[in-house]
Amino acid sequence: MCGIVGYIGDGKAKEIIIDGLKRLEYRGYDSAGIALCIDGKIETRKHVGGIENLEKIIDDKEYESNIGIGHTRWATHGAPSDVNAHPHNNEDNTVTVVHNGIIENYTELKEALIKEHGIKFRSETDSEVIAQLIGVLYDGDLHEAVNNAVKKMRGAYAIGVVCAHEPDNIIAVRKDAPLVAGIGKGCNFIASDIPALLKYVREIFLIENNETIVVTKNEIKIYDENGQTVKRDVFHVTWDADAAEKGGYPHFMLKEIHEQPKGLEDTLLRRLDKDGRIKLDGITMTKKDIESFNKIYIVACGTAYHAGLVGKYTIEKMARIPVEVDIASEFRYRDSFVDENTLFIAISQSGETLDTLAALREAKRKGARILSVVNVVGSSVARESDDVFYTWAGPEIAVASTKAYTTQLMCMYLIGLYMGYTKGVVDNEYYKAMLEELKAIPDKLRLVLKNESLISDLADRFYHREQIFFIGRGPDSGVSYEGSLKLKEISYINSFAIAAGELKHGTIALMEKGSLVFALSTQDALFEKMISNIEEIKARGAYVIGITKEGNKEIEKQSDESIYIPDCPDELTPLLTVVPLQVFSYYVAKNRGCNIDKPKNLAKSVTVE
Ligand code: G6P
Repeated sequence: MCGIVGYIGDGKAKEIIIDGLKRLEYRGYDSAGIALCIDGKIETRKHVGGIENLEKIIDDKEYESNIGIGHTRWATHGAPSDVNAHPHNNEDNTVTVVHNGIIENYTELKEALIKEHGIKFRSETDSEVIAQLIGVLYDGDLHEAVNNAVKKMRGAYAIGVVCAHEPDNIIAVRKDAPLVAGIGKGCNFIASDIPALLKYVREIFLIENNETIVVTKNEIKIYDENGQTVKRDVFHVTWDADAAEKGGYPHFMLKEIHEQPKGLEDTLLRRLDKDGRIKLDGITMTKKDIESFNKIYIVACGTAYHAGLVGKYTIEKMARIPVEVDIASEFRYRDSFVDENTLFIAISQSGETLDTLAALREAKRKGARILSVVNVVGSSVARESDDVFYTWAGPEIAVASTKAYTTQLMCMYLIGLYMGYTKGVVDNEYYKAMLEELKAIPDKLRLVLKNESLISDLADRFYHREQIFFIGRGPDSGVSYEGSLKLKEISYINSFAIAAGELKHGTIALMEKGSLVFALSTQDALFEKMISNIEEIKARGAYVIGITKEGNKEIEKQSDESIYIPDCPDELTPLLTVVPLQVFSYYVAKNRGCNIDKPKNLAKSVTVE
């Protein structure tokens, strides 16, 4: 997804901006660009492809300044191309803009600019409209021109603007797309994401919706939508930029798979008090609130949605409240049954996914209580929720989510257990036993990872398959969806997941010699049913790899091969079963020579609809 970096100060803007853009590469992008203010002129360079392409065309000493903006683009309007890349300039190249998000009324604005001012557009983007609009409105005061332009714009955006006539400030605006300002010494920064700035600053202003900032070398002024100055507390970033490096692994994804035991420990232990009971520091939800909920919606996208699928089983079982899980882009446009007795749980690694944010706002409007499960502190979803249950996965760089997913699952267990115990649905014995079992999970996961070579051997043998299936029942079905998503995301294999009981209603028609099926069979009460499903698909010639708990030797009689996870309560198996599937996907993609950390067509954080 698009990234923004801007710099003003005594240093070399080109170097600093390019470095910041590189730190945002993990978000996924298709082109990159930079604009510097040099001798009263805007000099823009942009190129389709990676930042290395851009670097080749800016490799001259003359191209340097101490003010500029840069961008990595992920195409929405107009194909990836040099001309569609950002920054975009106005007609006489005196105003330049970088933009994340979408301008919904850009056609209308574009037509008016052409008709009334005879503007000639260069690109197919919605973003160029912003530069042209500001250019037309500019009358010696960039801040004012930006304010006036913003009044005419509809949509979601974070923008950074520089003007040739004002080489002493950058103006930036945030509306429904992330924006931060970095506070340096003799320099200041803007960025769409904190990691872009960590090499240079740790003191940050988190910019709120509808705020405009005027950034000079020595000052950052924040204004609300009425033009009033706003005082903002400084946010000190404690996490280390090195945490975002690969740390010896060939890919971020593999590193992040191996970070899961630690992420789970951190997420769990930060929520336990000295007596080993769940503490909800910073969460204001009371016993009365919990007793008032008569339904729960869990809403999310992608992998986070799959965490919700498992969360449904967990929370319904532990808290005895009906749970509906929905995809955010569906939920936001349907007339859901949300009222003030509804708990709305948004799950999001980034906390910036536009559909999730919009669904959250819709639920809030209808009176729901909003609890979010988020990995990025200070993100939009976190800030707009009543309460936040943070996952402590640390920065996740690989586009395919792994450690965010397992830490999201951990939150589902803690939320379910806490609510169930508070309501008196689960007794003290179950509560304590379950917490002990959760504490044992990180070490069990380490054991699963010790079998990495067994799984990579499987991948070596099956990486050329063109169709792979994942089946399971109960919580195993939720994990099947995630296993299938992982595989298709990074290896581009056509993979398919289905609740095993549904097989005979259609999907079994696809089973034939050559089909590879992962049969997740960890639920004691459903084990025999799974065995029947395995028999059915084997009878059609499929090759079956069973995944079950240690000791369930029965599976060996039915499936062609078996993967065992350490024994644990049925409720908790998703925390372990997903890991061999992540590892399998990783090695399949590696065998197929895929770009594992940055799969084609995908972005880490989807801040457009
Ligand atoms: C994108 C990412 C997925 C992620 C999904 C939701 O599709 O590639 O890995 O699960 O967005 O993102 P979120 O940040 O809201 O969890």
